[in-house]
Amino acid sequence: MAPRALVAGASGIVGGNLSAHLVSLGWEVFGLARKPPRELAGVTPLAADLREPESLRSALANINPNYVFITTWLRQATEAENCTVNGAMVRNLLGAVRDDHALQHVALVTGGKNYFGSFEEAGNYDVTTPFREEQPRKPGLNFYYTQEDILFEQARQMGFSWSVHRPPTIIGYALGNSMNMGVTLAVYASICRETGRPFVFPGSPEQYHGLSEVVDARILARQLAWAATTPAAQNQAFNIANGDVFRWDWMWERLANAFGLEVAPYPGQATPLQTQMRDAGPIWDAIVQKHGLRPHKVDELAPWWHTDADLGRTFETFSDMSKSRVLGFLEYQRSDTTFLDLFARLRNEKIIP
Ligand SMILES: NC(=O)c1ccc[n+]([C@@H]2O[C@H](COP(=O)([O-])OP(=O)(O)OC[C@H]3O[C@@H](n4cnc5c(N)ncnc54)[C@H](OP(=O)(O)O)[C@@H]3O)[C@@H](O)[C@H]2O)c1
Repeated sequence: MAPRALVAGASGIVGGNLSAHLVSLGWEVFGLARKPPRELAGVTPLAADLREPESLRSALANINPNYVFITTWLRQATEAENCTVNGAMVRNLLGAVRDDHALQHVALVTGGKNYFGSFEEAGNYDVTTPFREEQPRKPGLNFYYTQEDILFEQARQMGFSWSVHRPPTIIGYALGNSMNMGVTLAVYASICRETGRPFVFPGSPEQYHGLSEVVDARILARQLAWAATTPAAQNQAFNIANGDVFRWDWMWERLANAFGLEVAPYPGQATPLQTQMRDAGPIWDAIVQKHGLRPHKVDELAPWWHTDADLGRTFETFSDMSKSRVLGFLEYQRSDTTFLDLFARLRNEKIIP
């Protein structure tokens, strides 16, 4: 019997890439979201709202998954609301499968804010790089901690094993999701090329000159599948990054080359995309028309706020990858290749010119 997976958040950048990977391994995959993906080959779509326990219970009534992957999040105005809403989503999900003896493992995807605080508090604490899984939690509210605590409690009660995965910025294919630096930078570069605007690194000096890392959504997918099926990886938290580090003053030139652009001189301070791209709506509509692209609105493709937040940090962030490597997870990806692969796919699928 093929392993049966329930991927909560299957239309997202994590969930979509994970679902595709599990299908490629021959798993049976159920992909849950409010608007589940219908175009993902081999994935059975399940439409349900994780905030509604009753409808969730009926949507999951006959699924009996062996593995549950929690890759959802729903952005709220404050971190307190993030904790309430995103915590309830984990509790409701596990509540809906909780009487099921088939369930072996639940994996939760959180992220780097585990180490440096929520969107509200990022920059308020001293951070120690490289991030190591055993570093203590930061004092403030953080929905990742709320979700972890619910996961740990349910695992104790129900007897499944768990894993927690902490990626930095995720680069990969997804459309219309709320945090997607790769697609955002592809849209920005395309607009610069079409309009002749300078291709300026929009982030802080600390990000431009300091060490950085990203993770390819396909590498994260592989770690999730590995942890779910590897006894030595049970009941552990893992960092997950590509495995290389880079500086944006180097990477920016690689991105510019991929679009036939010159690198504009770095202005020495952040110049947020949200401001630079204020007028991008009609420009993008014209680009779509000129190149016969799929008719996405720019706001659907490019969540400028998130790229501004990540590239605007005034402190260094990168993680130690040795914990999962020592246990046998050896996947590795060059980060410039991650971006170039994504850009090639976006061109192939007529998302960008
Ligand atoms: N993206 C990044 O760069 C990044 C970096 C580090 C960490 N992370 C973390 O990774 C985790 C996954 O994030 P992501 O970026 O993959 O998210 P995402 O791309 O925005 O996808 C979120 C998924 O959750 C689903 N969802 C949201 N609310 C739902 C609800 N009420 N009921 C059912 N499904 C719901 C969405 O589909 P519907 O809207 O159709 O429901 C979508 O499938 C989060 O904890 C995030 O903080 C992300």
